[in-house]
Amino acid sequence: MYSANTDRYQKMIYNRLGASGLKISAVSLGLWHNFGSVDSLENQKKIIHQAFDLGITYYDLANNYGPVPGSAEENFGHVLSRDMKAYRDEMIISSKAGYHMWEGPYGDWGSRKSIIASANQSLQRMGLEYFDIFYSHRPDPKTPIEETALALDQLVREGKALYIGVSNYDGKQTSAISKIFHELKTPFVVNQSRYNMFNRKIEGDLLPVLKDNNKAAVVFSPLAQGLLTNRYLNGIPDDSRAAKSSSPFLKKEQVEKTLNTVKELECVAEKREQTLAEMAIAWNLRQKEVSSVIVGASRSEQLQNSVNALKNLTFSVEELKIIDKILDDVD
Ligand SMILES: NC(=O)c1ccc[n+]([C@@H]2O[C@H](COP(=O)([O-])OP(=O)(O)OC[C@H]3O[C@@H](n4cnc5c(N)ncnc54)[C@H](OP(=O)(O)O)[C@@H]3O)[C@@H](O)[C@H]2O)c1
Repeated sequence: MYSANTDRYQKMIYNRLGASGLKISAVSLGLWHNFGSVDSLENQKKIIHQAFDLGITYYDLANNYGPVPGSAEENFGHVLSRDMKAYRDEMIISSKAGYHMWEGPYGDWGSRKSIIASANQSLQRMGLEYFDIFYSHRPDPKTPIEETALALDQLVREGKALYIGVSNYDGKQTSAISKIFHELKTPFVVNQSRYNMFNRKIEGDLLPVLKDNNKAAVVFSPLAQGLLTNRYLNGIPDDSRAAKSSSPFLKKEQVEKTLNTVKELECVAEKREQTLAEMAIAWNLRQKEVSSVIVGASRSEQLQNSVNALKNLTFSVEELKIIDKILDDVD
């Protein structure tokens, strides 16, 4: 029987999502990989419990996480109902709709039909009455943005979501939907986008919009799916994301292409007495608008290492310049 660490709130940092009342852990756990039906349930349980023991309050899911799609929600729901029911009010649990989930014209994108049906399915898979945050997973160029916004607003009115987020919306799209949410008085609080040393697009595009609108960013793939760690320094391990056939999102060529840069960054991290993973996470959190970094983990040591990033979040101007120079040199 799981019983949570009593000192779990002492080491974690909690940041407010923009101007809202909601605080979330500066490091959060994402269940995109390693929590599907192809993965060990024992290992999943261990990582979810460990996350909670480390003070992580935010658990990021989506309808299609697996593989198979839907299985991460089922597995998380299983762990929650067996061991963690008592802690539900200490957790922020999210899901998303927008990427392909089921066959036919309603299984993806942002129509009212898709969003409402998908949210209902996700609640059922996870055995939850409500989500703390429900996201539109991607902007839909063919559905009026008002329709997507109204569908998300309806989830709040029905008590199925407490807060609303958008994911993969750029600055302009975020600004547009934010205006609608403002008129509707929808509790829209957060944009979830990719941000790491190899992908800095949001710095110039999205972060200024979030600042102007008093909204927050939670950012995904802070370790560039494992590239910004020591995982690939000595080749591609068989059990790594880049090697797994069930995970087509990180290509071996990306590992080879980034290796020299990673080695240079590793030297900077070493001087800071951090691992590269720790430095990459700290580097993301230097942005005021970034309330949380959502990390993935295939084993508990990785998650512990990611949370250790919070021990040194300060960068000197000189260190930032050196990192910029290393990253600028990447073609
Ligand atoms: N909204 C969206 O469209 C979207 C898209 C992508 C992700 N996300 C969210 O963001 C979450 C995180 O994404 P991500 O998994 O790509 O994040 P990530 O933290 O950049 O990558 C996680 C992977 O890096 C490796 N790793 C983690 N910590 C490590 C450490 N300390 N040392 C060495 N290797 C380490 C592991 O790879 P191995 O498996 O090889 O061990 C792990 O699976 C997802 O679970 C999801 O919740 C959202």
